[in-house]
Amino acid sequence: MPTVRSIYEEIFNNDEAFQLFCSIAASGEAQGGWENGRIAALVPDSYQDLAPKIARHGADEDKHGRIFGALLRKRGLKPVAVPSDTDYTMRLESAGIGLAHTLLRGDQKLTERDIVCYLAHSRVTEQRASEQMRALRRYAGERPDISRAVKMISDDEDNHLAYCHEELLRLAEAGHQEFIEHTLRSSALAEIAIYRDVSTAVMAHLGRLLGWSRSRSDFLAAGIRAVYFYERLGGWRRMVSLRMPSRRDALGGLQPAHRT
Ligand SMILES: [Fe+2]
Ligand SMILES: [Fe+2]
Repeated sequence: MPTVRSIYEEIFNNDEAFQLFCSIAASGEAQGGWENGRIAALVPDSYQDLAPKIARHGADEDKHGRIFGALLRKRGLKPVAVPSDTDYTMRLESAGIGLAHTLLRGDQKLTERDIVCYLAHSRVTEQRASEQMRALRRYAGERPDISRAVKMISDDEDNHLAYCHEELLRLAEAGHQEFIEHTLRSSALAEIAIYRDVSTAVMAHLGRLLGWSRSRSDFLAAGIRAVYFYERLGGWRRMVSLRMPSRRDALGGLQPAHRT
């Protein structure tokens, strides 16, 4: 039966699968970059201290998008269109998780609640990003180019998660605790279902490119469902806890990543 390591190996070894994998990742990162960039531009006056950190967050995500693009280029590949059923960021947005794009496309300042909502949503999705990058880092170990790129992204995602914990704890103390708890819970419960659906779709597309047998595909789909059940039965709680990180001010005092 396939292992996580052998699945990553298959993806890394196959140009078309690698092309789709990196294109999906690059597009999600770029989308996150755009969202954070818009939020930074629309921060209300009362939260201006957060604006440079949100901008930094956005610049990091843009950089991650460029890193996945560079991995494709190095292999002589171009990005391909991302199938809509694999678009994690857009699916979260259409489920009403995080801030609506219509709001972000406008020029009206956000409210304090919008900022709390952005941070709670990020607390959940950055947990996912941090875990995924750690896994990718583990399995890309024997490929120095991928491994180097992923390590850089993984370190950033850990910083993003630390920043969300710290800022949410600050805002909870400032009186937003109930709204934060409610938003974290609803974001996490929606996210785990979307993550399951997107993982299933990604595996189906990759499986077609890699010529997987029916039994192999069924086995992997069952694995994705098992992860969902674990998360639905209580694993989701790891995505909503708040703990002061050992690394404080993870997005402050650093040189901003350059935007393109
Ligand atoms: Fe990222
Ligand atoms: Fe991130």
